[in-house]
Amino acid sequence: MLSMQNISMVYRTDLVETHALREFSLEVDEGDFISVTGPSGSGKTTFLNIAGLLERFTGGRYELDGRDVSALSDAESSAVRNQKIGFIFQSFNLIPDLNLFDNVDVPLRYRGFKAAERKRRIENVLEMVGLASRMKHLPSQLSGGQQQRVAIARALAGEPRFLLADEPTGNLDSHMAMSVMELIAEINRNGTTIIMVTHDPSLAEMANRNVHILDGRVSDNGADTQMAKQMAKHVAKQWVDQMAAPTATAATG
Ligand SMILES: Nc1ncnc2c1ncn2[C@@H]1O[C@H](COP(=O)(O)OP(=O)(O)OP(=O)(O)O)[C@@H](O)[C@H]1O
Ligand SMILES: [Mg+2]
Repeated sequence: MLSMQNISMVYRTDLVETHALREFSLEVDEGDFISVTGPSGSGKTTFLNIAGLLERFTGGRYELDGRDVSALSDAESSAVRNQKIGFIFQSFNLIPDLNLFDNVDVPLRYRGFKAAERKRRIENVLEMVGLASRMKHLPSQLSGGQQQRVAIARALAGEPRFLLADEPTGNLDSHMAMSVMELIAEINRNGTTIIMVTHDPSLAEMANRNVHILDGRVSDNGADTQMAKQMAKHVAKQWVDQMAAPTATAATG
């Protein structure tokens, strides 16, 4: 689904040049659930912004669904984004003068859903994040954690094929973080490909694969660990099957 080869991203100001990404390469398959970890400033948000076509990169090659995205015009990039990609940002990016219902409605309008379908989806996702009773409130009337849940509802309402999440549970207490994580895992089981940045190792564990970033590079793409996990599962299953099956001697004797 996503293929990045030697992506570089350089931010230039008069005083400094920052290499946010360098020789950044990563493959993500359809249906993957990937957690991204790494120190502050290592390039995690930059990677998500480029993956989600919010920012253009300086060098390298990025293909999304087999399409070279550097060749897309701005209008084409936004069309792909609206069709396929959902975002949960580190800052919630809610629109301050729209109530919760209308905030969640924004991407659905872009997608061209009919009013009744939009209403059904909005009520459904606000219910899921526990804010159905607050539909007519403005973001400023909510706590930080509640605003984050609205941002999550907004990202999920369009049932995107590809969900990019930057610290989605960063401002939530552990109980709420777990229920949001379960929601995200469920969306993944329903087929959405997910890339999620997190600082929390126990949340990173919930993904199928962990990618670690250091100094703008992938220092571990998690493939070996994922393979080892699958092997362990396979061996464990064989062992259980063997224990459960009647042995040859038992069957004959
Ligand atoms: N718009 C920008 N202009 C200049 N430098 C930038 C810009 N955005 C990011 N950077 C720099 O690029 C590097 C990577 O930043 P990025 O936001 O991707 O880090 P991060 O891994 O998401 O960190 P955190 O965990 O703190 O969110 C940092 O050194 C940052 O200062
Ligand atoms: Mg960041």
